[in-house]
Amino acid sequence: MEFFNREKEIRDLINMIKQEPNLITFIYGPINSGKTVLMYHLVEKILPKEYVAFYINLRGYSITKQEEFLKVLFEVYDENSFRKKFDRILKGLETYHKAIPVIRSIWREFFFGEKSFDAFKHVENFLQELNNKGLKPIIIFDELQVIKDIKINELLIYRIFNLFIRLTKELKLCHVFAITSDSTFIERIYNEAMLQGRSRYYLVDDFDKETVEKILRSKGFSDEEIDTVWKYFGGKPIYLVEAIQSKKVGRNVKELCEEFYRLRKSQVLDMLYMLRREDAEMFKRVIEVLKNFKDRNEVVYEEITPEILWLINKNILFLEPMNRIIKPQSHLELLAMRNILEKFNV
Ligand SMILES: Nc1ncnc2c1ncn2[C@@H]1O[C@H](COP(=O)(O)OP(=O)(O)OP(=O)(O)O)[C@@H](O)[C@H]1O
Ligand SMILES: [Mg+2]
Repeated sequence: MEFFNREKEIRDLINMIKQEPNLITFIYGPINSGKTVLMYHLVEKILPKEYVAFYINLRGYSITKQEEFLKVLFEVYDENSFRKKFDRILKGLETYHKAIPVIRSIWREFFFGEKSFDAFKHVENFLQELNNKGLKPIIIFDELQVIKDIKINELLIYRIFNLFIRLTKELKLCHVFAITSDSTFIERIYNEAMLQGRSRYYLVDDFDKETVEKILRSKGFSDEEIDTVWKYFGGKPIYLVEAIQSKKVGRNVKELCEEFYRLRKSQVLDMLYMLRREDAEMFKRVIEVLKNFKDRNEVVYEEITPEILWLINKNILFLEPMNRIIKPQSHLELLAMRNILEKFNV
């Protein structure tokens, strides 16, 4: 896969990583803005060898209990293969991992041993060992919102935050990045007292117009085609890739854009019709929110009302709590919203 320009983001992230670990970094942005691809690119292609990345991707896991989370967090090895693995890490032969390695006997204690045994302590010890050998570990959690509601005694997410705080600000053992495109989750985190002064937020947004022009021009798009792609897709990387691939096989770019637009409009319309049937009052309020976008691309919000929340949960709007802004998830939603307002005659 070809990787498109993220020079600024890579520069910013490298600058964060060069510092001694201090704050937890939450990476957020609209859906399909390229957060995961960017972080993979960073750890696989950019970071020097002394960095060892643990990229724990919770996407696709249905986690309802702590045990299930631990099974994603750790990778179990018997003693011999663990040693070999550790050796390879020390030699810089393995710089990127999907989980934290653990020896089977220790692992069994998590589940069958004494209750007081702490899995998070193992993470700490393991990272300490890497630090002692001069390596610089980085932990990245992708789709952290998957565990947002799991309760053991307290919410698991709070235990994880405690671990993050310990690993960064207190022990300086590793950098921690947590990625999510769940707007309501990032809003909750942003207002979470325990993270005040211990975290920072980094927005990975869709590409801007200049970047889109540059990418498309390099792929042989005409000015007219570039305008069309920008109008329908904005800078959403996933759609740009689709446009580039479609053009390559000789498809008409405008046709492709309109096909995506029709589909998205139809989906949004169905959701609104259903809402109107189920809750006419809420429907009216949702339409009032949409009206704000008739002649604006983004809107500053006062408070997160239930109608804004409805639009966020349907992935029509994206919420940026740092600047108190709501905006459509992409140009497709914006166009669909405007067209639907006309349809409803408002
Ligand atoms: N920098 C890039 N260069 C090339 N293609 C990209 C880039 N960023 C994203 N893409 C394309 O967009 C798709 C979606 O990107 P990605 O999965 O990283 O988005 P995301 O923000 O993590 O999405 P989600 O909100 O679902 O977590 C990728 O599969 C890839 O096709
Ligand atoms: Mg992602």
